[in-house]
Amino acid sequence: MIITVTMNPAIDKTADVDELIIGGVNRLKDIRIDAGGKGINVSKTLRVLNKPNMACGFIGGNMGSRIQTTLQKQMIMADFVLIEGETRSNLKVRSIFGMTAFDEPGPVIKPEELKQLFDKVKAHAKPGTLFVLSGSAPAGVPDDTYKKMTELLHQCGCKVFLDTSGALLRLGLEASPDYIKPNLTELMSLYGIKNKFESREAMIAWAVEKASELQSKGPKLVAISLGADGAVFCDGFESIHVPAKQVEVESPVGAGDAMTAAIAYCIDSNMMFRDIIRYAMAVSAGACMMEGSQPPTKEIIVKLLRQE
Ligand SMILES: Nc1ncnc2c1ncn2[C@@H]1O[C@H](COP(=O)(O)OP(=O)(O)OP(=O)(O)O)[C@@H](O)[C@H]1O
Ligand SMILES: [Mg+2]
Repeated sequence: MIITVTMNPAIDKTADVDELIIGGVNRLKDIRIDAGGKGINVSKTLRVLNKPNMACGFIGGNMGSRIQTTLQKQMIMADFVLIEGETRSNLKVRSIFGMTAFDEPGPVIKPEELKQLFDKVKAHAKPGTLFVLSGSAPAGVPDDTYKKMTELLHQCGCKVFLDTSGALLRLGLEASPDYIKPNLTELMSLYGIKNKFESREAMIAWAVEKASELQSKGPKLVAISLGADGAVFCDGFESIHVPAKQVEVESPVGAGDAMTAAIAYCIDSNMMFRDIIRYAMAVSAGACMMEGSQPPTKEIIVKLLRQE
């Protein structure tokens, strides 16, 4: 069983306009409404992969109810803490200028609501369960929250996959999560690196080295995603770079979440290192072929898995 935790979900509304008028009325068309947020994206990909999973986290208000009904329609189990605040709703408008985003700040979480989330997580923490802790945290949630959650889950005999950034990642690592998948930006910020690399080769060599260094500190598997430059994987025996699959890219948004889902799927199915890499690369490339942050279809995944 896999449980995803999304502390900061969102209703993602995407739409098109023929012409973007600043200071005027814009007529939206082709409106699409999706339940979004990193852990929820992971749950959606796991659903395509046919892996039983449950989405947890915080939801509130009308947008929160919408997340619940959307997940229900997609047959994804959910058990969220209902908060007093309102789940954020983000609007993305596609025009000739590209994508213009209007993002809400999101709710402020109260200490008792955070405690309720820990209680819920504990209630689902059966030994052997894999928890995927994904994404940023809303206001009111301390930076050591994933660290504390990881400690609690380890005490319960669960495995933890941490996919986050900034202080949540830095502090979370202190609890030795079992699996991590930072992207290049997250890894660079973890090591305080601001300057660009001299070359693509230098960047890859650095990522290979850091994957190994991070893995030696606790995680069983470290994956570092490098966008179109592929990914690095380290299981303690080897740290290797794998090029990205050549696909027609529609939107790379959510490709990292798809990769996290693929790795979680493989771990929960006791698959070997080489197969984890195969699935991670195929599923994440497949996500790039879809609009927005949608997961790849089963057909796309099967086709990409067959390509060597
Ligand atoms: N242009 C691309 N072509 C093929 N594969 C890609 C491309 N961009 C990304 N990928 C695949 O997706 C993986 C994850 O991408 P990326 O490093 O951008 O993740 P991320 O930044 O965590 O994404 P997000 O947070 O939007 O989910 C890459 O390691 C690669 O396998
Ligand atoms: Mg990511």
